[in-house]
Amino acid sequence: MPDIAFINGRFLPWQEATVSIDDRGFQFGDAVYEVIRTYRGAPFEVGAHLARLERSAYELSFPQPYARAQWIQWIQHGLSLAGYQDAKIYIQITRGVAPREHRFPSEGRPTVVMTIREFHPLAPEIRHTGVIVCTREDLRWGRCDIKSVNLLPNVLAREEARRAGVFETILIRDGLVMEGALSNVMAVQNDVILTAPEGPRILSGVTRAVVLELAKKDAIAIEERFIPVDVLYSANEVFLTGTTLEVLGVVGIDGKIIGSGRPGPITKMLAARWALLTG
Ligand code: PDD
Repeated sequence: MPDIAFINGRFLPWQEATVSIDDRGFQFGDAVYEVIRTYRGAPFEVGAHLARLERSAYELSFPQPYARAQWIQWIQHGLSLAGYQDAKIYIQITRGVAPREHRFPSEGRPTVVMTIREFHPLAPEIRHTGVIVCTREDLRWGRCDIKSVNLLPNVLAREEARRAGVFETILIRDGLVMEGALSNVMAVQNDVILTAPEGPRILSGVTRAVVLELAKKDAIAIEERFIPVDVLYSANEVFLTGTTLEVLGVVGIDGKIIGSGRPGPITKMLAARWALLTG
């Protein structure tokens, strides 16, 4: 089955799918993106992802290239061409092609790229044992709610995790836990879920929102507030949420063991609810 590429309304063979060297996405990182995954061929929470894409574009004053219904058609068409049951849909919108000049070009239309590739979910053993993570200073800008391709601090944080031989890096600002380099972070203390509030300091994760809804249905208390890193270390449970990770238990942070050293009961229950929801 093929990986699928799409540029500006056309599905293309992968090798022919190229963009201009004058594209502002390439020149300035002047672009926004989304990552959506499918479960058994169907895109999960596609409405929420497209709403966030529209919001990111709006916040950067990009014209909206397609209406929601058109997006759904492109995605469905791409998925039928690719044929994967588990697919990762990547969408990027840039401010388009223009001679390199920082301020917005007076003309030009956005460049829209979509790729669809096979998605390989995490091995069940990793879910079973949980993961170890590290923390680093959050070097990102003040609008982390915009899902922009300016990911250099995230790239560096991910590379630090790789070098440290751990799964993810949790980003800390002024001693407070923000989120992971590609995940949201939740801690459980005395049966209460603690997680950073929505706002400019974190990405408002689609998985985060669904998991908080699942927790509410189970009458688990939630406090959306920034927690100090030492509260994270001493939490009963910590877990990550994200499109590619789902609900993933964290059992060690910066060499400290979290809880019992195993994914805790609330983490396991939410992971089970997630599995039920996504079939
Ligand atoms: N990243 N926080 C950050 C900084 C992220 O990059 C992501 C996702 C999340 C989780 O959001 P969601 O639940 O909507 O996937 C939180 C994607 C998957 C990526 O960049 O590949």
